[in-house]
Amino acid sequence: MSSSLRPFFQPEAIALVGASRDPARIGGRLLQAVVEGGFRGVLYPINPHADVLAGRTALPSLRQLPGPVDLAVIAVPREGVLTVLDDCAAMGIRAALVITSGFAEVGEEGRRLQEQVAEKARKAGIRLIGPNCLGLLTTDPEVCLNASFVPIMPPSGTIAMSSESGAIGLALLVAASRLGLGISSCVSVGNRVDVSSNDLLEYWETDPRTAIVLLYLESFGNPRRFARIARRVARRKPIVAVKAGRTRAGRRAAGSHTAALAANDVAVEALFHQTGVIRAETLEELFDLAKALASQPLPDGKRVAVITNAGGPAILCADACEAGGLILPEFSEATKTTLRSFLPPSASAGNPVDLIASATPEHFRQAVSVIARSGEVDALIIIYISAGLIPPSLVLEAVREGMKGTPSLTLLVCLMAQREPLPPEDSFQESSVPCYPYPEEPARVLAKMAAHAEWLRLPPGVFPVFADGDPAKAREVCQQALHSRGPGWLTTEETRTLLDAFRLPTSPGGVARTAKEAATLAQAVGFPVAVKLASHTIVHKTEVGGVILNLTSATEVERAFEEMRSRFDSLEGVLVQPMMKDGTEVLVGMTLDPLFGPLIAFGLGGIHVEVLGDVCFRVNPLTGRDAAEMVRSLRGSRLLQGYRGHPPADLSALEQVLLRVSALVESVPEVSEMDLNPVFALPPGQGCRIVDARVRVTPTST
Ligand code: ACO
Repeated sequence: MSSSLRPFFQPEAIALVGASRDPARIGGRLLQAVVEGGFRGVLYPINPHADVLAGRTALPSLRQLPGPVDLAVIAVPREGVLTVLDDCAAMGIRAALVITSGFAEVGEEGRRLQEQVAEKARKAGIRLIGPNCLGLLTTDPEVCLNASFVPIMPPSGTIAMSSESGAIGLALLVAASRLGLGISSCVSVGNRVDVSSNDLLEYWETDPRTAIVLLYLESFGNPRRFARIARRVARRKPIVAVKAGRTRAGRRAAGSHTAALAANDVAVEALFHQTGVIRAETLEELFDLAKALASQPLPDGKRVAVITNAGGPAILCADACEAGGLILPEFSEATKTTLRSFLPPSASAGNPVDLIASATPEHFRQAVSVIARSGEVDALIIIYISAGLIPPSLVLEAVREGMKGTPSLTLLVCLMAQREPLPPEDSFQESSVPCYPYPEEPARVLAKMAAHAEWLRLPPGVFPVFADGDPAKAREVCQQALHSRGPGWLTTEETRTLLDAFRLPTSPGGVARTAKEAATLAQAVGFPVAVKLASHTIVHKTEVGGVILNLTSATEVERAFEEMRSRFDSLEGVLVQPMMKDGTEVLVGMTLDPLFGPLIAFGLGGIHVEVLGDVCFRVNPLTGRDAAEMVRSLRGSRLLQGYRGHPPADLSALEQVLLRVSALVESVPEVSEMDLNPVFALPPGQGCRIVDARVRVTPTST
């Protein structure tokens, strides 16, 4: 699959169709970029009105090519694109880069034309990047192809970039060149009729020239495929992504807590987290991270030392470190004593280490050397403000000296108040030290690097298989409900059958249709009991008085039944359950995201979920690792671990519930929304009980 992309990155011969005689036109700029980029292979300019272009014989059409061509770069007016693709097919060209715009991005007519382009390429077995794209470039010294209309060839390096926006792609290239970031290849994917960011990820996974992948994403063509590929690639190469479009206005009206809580961005956040993609909030942060990842090892842990000649910025940095989950440990007495032995008396040997304004390069060298050797931290952040006294290059040199022969720690630098750009050997070059202008930036970058390192250290999650589940029965109950009543909520009994089919721990009890039945059930489950309205139309039972708690005798239960019957027309029945005595209330839910598919939610019940919105989402399916993280990642998770007389909860039973819900949702696509709320998490070893549940079903095509 990814080998079919090789002609884009390693072509021996390319044809530029629409190579203009006018250097100001896009076809002319492309020609110039290919030539000035120093393309190592054969270039055929195609233009029916020219004989010679850029010193090469121009051909009137691809059909006149004298030899094989691997890649056609197409920049002809849109009406001509289909014919050029026919020519590609006839000449055995298997890769086309279509720069031309005027397709789906401009309306219905363009969309139709785009479909024809996609269809033609598919039928002819041509891989196609674009249309409506800026082009691609590769710095491979054996290829040196700049097939874009950006006259910039960035330095060669290990960073690959894909952009879903041409303009952002252009900005990325300009910034990469300015910052001296070494690029392996860069692709503007345009309207993505064929080659997507997912395909490029797969290509870069095995590309020996690429060590880091940067993605600018506007959408996920196929989030499940992205998840599968990214999860695998991120284990080998860091993926840093900026995702545009955080807000999705007008969330549909929600019938369950879970749906209401699944606000705009949770699916993207969850997907990146689960797949190990490092999320950059801004383009600036994308580069901040790229600089560090390209030149520094990932930290072995979260401990960081800040060494500075300026107290204020160090405090800002320390705050940002802690906000990002890093730790600034107190140094051991031995380390502090060694530091004090050469520091001026007013300097601070704490963490941050404040060498004070008069610090010399030698102070930095010694402090770095002592701390890097101490084994007490995993990373160093150096903050230097020169105030015109000592050039930063001397301080950086001293820091490098201090690091020599020490364990390989992550090193990030902040050079504040730096007016002049540093000479290239000191600035952002690969194998050099990444420098940032403000003290919070290295802290944020390091926090994300440390989180990624932690993700890598944990074994990959496994998708569990539940042999004791009965998916056929679960599907049958949903399909029967759909058949008899159409889309909507399952009845209490149907819900119980569905949950039982996946061995989900429903509370004992059942549905009674008469007062006598209710009393018998109550006696069977044991007093005190709760009696609840069983209805597939009224979803918020408490609000309408459909829940009566703490009934201690058969007479009270019968009375409760009669009360329900008098209050609700055509009563379906009542649910009789034992009252839960201990346990912590939690919510487990599922909602369907239109793009990402099912999202699974976990939250603490009651006010935690309703008022504080303390809920964690993951994209389905869940691995064991996802479930274990979910039950531990809430703000209120300490309550589940036992806190001030609050008993601990059976976390592994909760994980099982999450995993079984995940398996149910995978096997029963008719389930479109689900709330298990509350689920009572009992003390360790005692499991949990689903006390209330509602499930909505919707027809599917499968
Ligand atoms: N085969 C070979 N050559 C051809 C063909 C053909 N079928 N058709 C036209 N040509 C030649 C023409 O003779 C002309 O050469 P000349 O300038 O020497 O006379 C050249 O190709 C260009 O043809 P024009 O008709 O002048 O087309 P023009 O340059 O106006 O536009 C272009 C072509 C650039 C592809 C235009 O249609 C287009 O799509 N522009 C937008 C491109 C774009 O923005 N892409 C997205 C980038 S991402 C972002 O937004 C940053």
